[in-house]
Amino acid sequence: MFLWIVATLMIFVQSVISGYIEKVIVSGCETCQLMLSCRQLDSIIAILDVDFNSTEAGLAKKIHGTFPPDHPRDALNKRCSGLNYCSFILSEDSPGSEALGAGNLTIKYACVTRDRVNPYCNTKIQLNELRSSGIIHNPGYPRFYAGKRDCIWKIFATPYQKVKLKILDIALFDTRVLLQEDCKDTLEIKDSGQTIFSTCSQNDPPSEVISATESVEVVLTSRQLINPRRGVLIYYSSVGCLPVSAPKQAFLVFQNQSVASYSCCKGYVFPDTQTENRTIKCYGDSWNVSLPLLDCEKPEVSQAILLQNSVKIVETMASDLLAPILLMIILFALNGIVIFYIHKARKNDFRRRGSSNFDIPSQRRLYYGSIGNDTSSLRGKQLKSSMKNWALSLKLSNERLP
Ligand SMILES: *[C@@H]1O[C@H](CO)[C@@H](O)[C@H](O)[C@H]1NC(C)=O
Ligand SMILES: *[C@@H]1O[C@H](CO)[C@@H](O)[C@H](O)[C@H]1NC(C)=O
Ligand SMILES: *[C@@H]1O[C@H](CO)[C@@H](O)[C@H](O)[C@H]1NC(C)=O
Ligand SMILES: *[C@@H]1O[C@H](CO)[C@@H](O)[C@H](O)[C@H]1NC(C)=O
Ligand SMILES: *[C@@H]1O[C@H](CO)[C@@H](O)[C@H](O)[C@H]1NC(C)=O
Repeated sequence: MFLWIVATLMIFVQSVISGYIEKVIVSGCETCQLMLSCRQLDSIIAILDVDFNSTEAGLAKKIHGTFPPDHPRDALNKRCSGLNYCSFILSEDSPGSEALGAGNLTIKYACVTRDRVNPYCNTKIQLNELRSSGIIHNPGYPRFYAGKRDCIWKIFATPYQKVKLKILDIALFDTRVLLQEDCKDTLEIKDSGQTIFSTCSQNDPPSEVISATESVEVVLTSRQLINPRRGVLIYYSSVGCLPVSAPKQAFLVFQNQSVASYSCCKGYVFPDTQTENRTIKCYGDSWNVSLPLLDCEKPEVSQAILLQNSVKIVETMASDLLAPILLMIILFALNGIVIFYIHKARKNDFRRRGSSNFDIPSQRRLYYGSIGNDTSSLRGKQLKSSMKNWALSLKLSNERLP
């Protein structure tokens, strides 16, 4: 029976700039022929994940990690890795797979364009915003790997990032070794000169190594001149956040792999918080704030300060006006009293004059008269001075008022 099924096909275009790595998923039953292919002729297949779901009750649990006796990943790598297209039938291509019984095989693979593949030894790879992932494999992959000389790749991430490596395929001289010391040819991963990982056989799920610093060295060592095995195919990517340039009127104070702190220049603040310092945190591959960062600005005059100021203005205005108003009132009162007394004095004077016409001698009348004249002149003086006061008070109040 010959069944052609490609059940699921999902495509995620990771990046269009400078080549791309496209992830594709195919799945089908154990006897189905699964077709793996890449749209672009210059792309190669890299197997990411292989999963088997048994349709037989009771078997589903024991699948993971106990693929007998050869892992379907090995068979799949042998048939497909590094090529542009291939076909795969689990029951035919993977020895010992009949032990798995009936079920669905799901394969997740990547199509990697040539410019994302580094197939040369002794090269440096610099990761950046545009190129944050790719593939390295030895020259000759997947047909052979050459030896007698170490093959070294140096991979650099941007500052404060790390490098993550995923060993998707490894097929060296040694096939099944139990101890690392028994490896004849080895793949080593070094960070700052220290070996942080070493192997000569495939693991499932594939081994993942993350550097502690921003760069790693991948070293393939072999003893033979030519080895008729595939060699290695490794997926690399940067881990962590890309550095954020300081906004306008601010500068970077501190940065490590997880946090970055910025301070505004003197006299400036971040407009949203009105504070001079800002710390951002890196979660996975992204900062916990929206970018770019807000530029620092001159601090706003806040509502509270405005209110306070207006109250103060009213207060100062009140104290400025109160004194002249009081003064005016006092002066009015004084004038009132003065006018009242003048009036009273006049009345008295009139009464006295009226009576003196009859019983006071002319001399005395004269005397009174002269006194009367004197008092009237005195009254005039008083009036004059009160008028002066009034004018003065007016002048004063005019001066005080704005
Ligand atoms: C396999 O089966 C499990 C549960 O039985 C399910 O959660 C999972 O999604 C299945 N995987 C695939 C690829 O179908
Ligand atoms: C296996 O795949 C077929 C079709 O591709 C689907 O109908 C079936 O549900 C799948 N079974 C399991 C256990 O995933
Ligand atoms: C980064 O610095 C912060 C604050 O000094 C510290 O808490 C954190 O552990 C540092 N992270 C790393 C990865 O060094
Ligand atoms: C802002 O950061 C600077 C430098 O780290 C520090 O000296 C200053 O005290 C901080 N200011 C506030 C308000 O936290
Ligand atoms: C981001 O993390 C920093 C440091 O922990 C914190 O002060 C800030 O409030 C966070 N920002 C957001 C938007 O969560």
